Amino acid sequence: MRGGIDPASIRQVTAQSDMLAIVAEVVELKRAGTSHRALCPFHAEKTPSFHVNAALKVYHCKGCGAGGDLISFVRETRGLGFVEAVQWLADRAGVDLVRQDLDPRDRARLDGERTQRARMIELATVAQQFFRARFSASEGRAAAEYAAKRGLGPGIAVRYGLGAAGSGWSDLCDHLRRQGWSDRDIVAMGLGVERQSGGIYDRFRNRLMFPIFAAQGDLVAFGGRDLSGDAQVAKYLNSPEVVDPEREAASPFHHFYKKGDVVFGLYQAREAIRRSGTAVLVEGNLDVMTLAQAGFENTVCAMGTALTSEQARAIRRFAAQVVVLYDGDRAGRQAAHKAVPLLLAEGCNGVLVALPDGDDPDSFVRTRGAEALRQRIAEAPPMLNAHLDALVASWDGSLQGKSAILQAAGPLLALLGHQDAMARNMAYDYLVTRLDPDAPLDQTRTTQGRYLHRPQALAPAPARPPMAATPEGPAAAESELLQLLVWYPAELGQPALRDAVDFVAHAGIRLALRELLALHRDHGLDLEAVARWAIDHTDPELRGRVLSWLAAPAPVAAGQVARQVAELVDRIVTPREIDRQMRHIMEQLPTASPETKRALSTRLFELRQLRGRR
Ligand code: UTP
Ligand code: MN
Repeated sequence: MRGGIDPASIRQVTAQSDMLAIVAEVVELKRAGTSHRALCPFHAEKTPSFHVNAALKVYHCKGCGAGGDLISFVRETRGLGFVEAVQWLADRAGVDLVRQDLDPRDRARLDGERTQRARMIELATVAQQFFRARFSASEGRAAAEYAAKRGLGPGIAVRYGLGAAGSGWSDLCDHLRRQGWSDRDIVAMGLGVERQSGGIYDRFRNRLMFPIFAAQGDLVAFGGRDLSGDAQVAKYLNSPEVVDPEREAASPFHHFYKKGDVVFGLYQAREAIRRSGTAVLVEGNLDVMTLAQAGFENTVCAMGTALTSEQARAIRRFAAQVVVLYDGDRAGRQAAHKAVPLLLAEGCNGVLVALPDGDDPDSFVRTRGAEALRQRIAEAPPMLNAHLDALVASWDGSLQGKSAILQAAGPLLALLGHQDAMARNMAYDYLVTRLDPDAPLDQTRTTQGRYLHRPQALAPAPARPPMAATPEGPAAAESELLQLLVWYPAELGQPALRDAVDFVAHAGIRLALRELLALHRDHGLDLEAVARWAIDHTDPELRGRVLSWLAAPAPVAAGQVARQVAELVDRIVTPREIDRQMRHIMEQLPTASPETKRALSTRLFELRQLRGRR
């Protein structure tokens, strides 16, 4: 069971969801026969190669190979985990999810929490409306003037929902109370703080307010920048984390807001990131907004905390390329070098931009302009090289120092090797030549390799997936046969197919046919079950191949299928091939062990019979 959700619930959620409506929120769909076509939301393209089969609820892009079902579409486009995606669909479709990993008590608690989460979002939304209204009222003049002073125009104010917290002690609390919210809720959401003497007061006062959205758009927290310039108050104040540790074990909603999970600006930047395939990662909230104002709408930040793996993963869901653009001071450089391995670990690549000391992205773009920043980004080195360069630059020249550096690089390179042995080897060579430019590479490899556990990386790459076994790809007849059977699984009952399978030369297709025949024999397959089989298949090439067929219109009309299958079987099971197989067995027989002999004889008998029928 996936994510503790009852499979029947998942089927119900899928059945009651409108795939076209959900896809249409992300890309514009055009009808193409029985399927639909669009520009792929997962890579940049000018002619549509993204196909959706609305009835089967599967999609596939012929350009980039992205493909899957309704749930994976929601996950990928909305940046959600599996459970979250199912929940998102369930909420839309009005389905009550049954979670089997929970006992009834936990389930009741979970329902309570879901309601509680919805209430929290509602409360945050009321507060957001209050801050927004203030921004354009006299109480918010200081905030609005400050935003203008920092160069943020009305468009950005709307995009980031800028608001104002005035200087009163309980303006927001009073407002919320009048709307019927309890002190407990207000404190739980982090909008009010309990006084020691009893009662509550506003957490955010005299600040430029900005809402913090989870990637899918839920309003979960607030940040506020101080307007007073008073050194005694924190320059930025964020909502406290809203976590209930007692519930942590059972509930997916235990983190209503956790700093390390949320990437500020990701919700607003999603479209621009997807379009460009790149995210710009900065340190500060104001940097995000100033850069968006300057045209870098794909900018996000980790809100002043060190980037976490969760945040790196959230970014990776939308972009494979990241421009790391941290402050040009020592702290910024250090933070950047902590972020790079995390990004690489999640499969991101990109560049590391160095800003002049004393500049942050906000000041840089405002003093030198967007073009100068674009130039800097264009000239920036790959983040991996920059990271290794920084390691080398930290070398004091001693032998111990060198070994320390190699050891520090070890985990990073091991991680690269895990994903891509070639990248890892190149990174290794890069590092070694910089630490010891005169040493011949082969020798340094052997002497320094052990620090880096190089032998592991030199291990042969895993065998290519079965689909690639014949380099020129499967013969047309074999591929066509599989395509027909995928679309019309009822034909899997044709007796002639059993014979044909052993004559399929392409290992991947042969395996796929065997799997389908077995599934059909044991369970009886329908089109939906075939789609399920393809989506869950471990061979990515087969998965892509079958999904691309299913996402496109049916290859032939139903009435012609039986005849076509028979014709393809005839093309595959040729007398010549039967003869070849018989000859092969005869050659093996004399030297085979007794058991093998028996098996070979049986097969020979079958082949003779088959030959007799041809
Ligand atoms: P910075 O101090 O670099 O702020 O902190 P900044 O973005 O350049 O802000 P301005 O330009 O002075 O207005 C970077 C980020 O660290 C977090 C905030 O998210 C901020 O954007 N931070 C900073 C806090 O949470 N609290 C603080 O007191 C300071
Ligand atoms: Mn700044």
